[in-house]
Amino acid sequence: MQPTVEVLSDKPALVERATVLVIERIKGAIAARGRCHLSLAGGSTPKPLYEALAKADLPWASLYIYWGDERFVPADHADSNDRMVRTAWLNHVPIPADHIFPVPTAAGSPEAAAEQYEQTLRQSFGEGTAFPSFDIILLGMGDDGHTASLFPHTPVLQEQTRWVGVGKKDDQPRITLTVPVINAAQTVIFLVAGANKQTALSQVFAPEADADVYPARRVQPDGQLIWLLDEAASKGLPT
Ligand code: 6PG
Repeated sequence: MQPTVEVLSDKPALVERATVLVIERIKGAIAARGRCHLSLAGGSTPKPLYEALAKADLPWASLYIYWGDERFVPADHADSNDRMVRTAWLNHVPIPADHIFPVPTAAGSPEAAAEQYEQTLRQSFGEGTAFPSFDIILLGMGDDGHTASLFPHTPVLQEQTRWVGVGKKDDQPRITLTVPVINAAQTVIFLVAGANKQTALSQVFAPEADADVYPARRVQPDGQLIWLLDEAASKGLPT
């Protein structure tokens, strides 16, 4: 399926559009399949989206929350994506506590955390599938073209069987969904804002470029791929 690209005037407009789209897709998934498995992006871009979702009226008992990646830090650490999402959103809504599946960063090692998270996903999605198909996966993109914690030239980029792997940003270990899991999603939505993303974005959209250098190129889901960009980030793209 061809990717959809929407360019919004600025980041607030992007967040507003993302809020409408995510609510629509959550409700659509629940209507179609009785539940919505939603994987969240970390970083700073999606935070206002999560704050907006805290004001939404959603079928909370049918929504299941996961993280697409997590820094290997305690859940109360300033860098924790778990902490960011709960503070911005989940602490303010009546979603059942057992519908929230954070990455277990209290595990003894990043490898153990990845293995445990994979087991969590297998409990949610069942063993009878090669890869879990999330209804919605939200992603950001770094100015180096990484997404989730799939960083350039890291071994996890090549993972084709595991559902969860260990990424590395500089020397910081991270836990991440793998490329085949992201590509098994029904809908993948990228949220990319800011002029600092221009160069990487133009390489991700270029006809030819190295997907080991720009890992976001590897996101080519069987389902729908939607890019929500602000004008600043989209400047280098072919019109
Ligand atoms: C993380 C994210 C990461 C993020 C990009 C963009 O844990 O940091 O999952 O992949 O989406 O680095 O981050 P910004 O939205 O802060 O630019």
